[in-house]
Amino acid sequence: MTETQTRIMGVDIGGSGIKGAPVDLERGELAAERHKVLTPHPATPDEVAGCVAEVVRHFDWTGPVGITFPGVVTDGVTRSAANVDKAWLDLDARGLLSARLGGMPVTLLNDADAAGIAEMTHGAGRGRSGTVVMLTLGTGIGSALFTDGRLVPNSELGHLELNGHDAETRASVRAKEDHDLSWERWARRLNKYLAHVEMLFSPDCFLIGGGVSRKADKFLPLIEGIRAEIVPAALQNNAGIVGAAMAAAGKKTA
Ligand code: BGC
Repeated sequence: MTETQTRIMGVDIGGSGIKGAPVDLERGELAAERHKVLTPHPATPDEVAGCVAEVVRHFDWTGPVGITFPGVVTDGVTRSAANVDKAWLDLDARGLLSARLGGMPVTLLNDADAAGIAEMTHGAGRGRSGTVVMLTLGTGIGSALFTDGRLVPNSELGHLELNGHDAETRASVRAKEDHDLSWERWARRLNKYLAHVEMLFSPDCFLIGGGVSRKADKFLPLIEGIRAEIVPAALQNNAGIVGAAMAAAGKKTA
């Protein structure tokens, strides 16, 4: 790698903020303080693309850019939009974003997949083989499924059915806030959800990501009856940015 290729810009499109920074790929760390702009509401493709361009411009960046999206992405096309504007459905989002960035090459991938890629290489998943399920708990529930370090993209386990409901509407951090659930009540829901995922995939390990992983001591000790090891993510809020940059560098496995 040349000096310039050791850094790639990563941008994470989230429900509340669009944040990015150049990433030092060897260390798996931000190479500069991240820049954040508030996610516009409604989060239409044009508005969001404008914000992404603002974040990238902030660093005077030219070159490849990795970008996360909170939904299914296949070959640059956004295929689901659970928590964003429906105008993203079946959109050539990679084309739109690249055009707004003056033609810079864009790699677009699911946000949880990006966080998982970063976590498996530089965080709590490092060196883990077997089946690993990374779950990001936030506005929704994102998932990244790995087998022997290799990602199975767009797993969308947050939308499994739990007690007749879309699981993320019961067990996400937003559900905890919306229903004013205590840690104990929320942990019970999360416990049921983890048991369900375990029944389907028998993972060796769950990696628990999202901002709430900082407070893992409040809820992980309450989880019981799960065979898999349950480990809080190490990279926390920057995992998406780091993973996006890694994907743009062509790195999709640990
Ligand atoms: C989306 C996933 C996303 C997750 C976290 C879910 O609603 O369907 O694609 O990874 O939210 O943002």
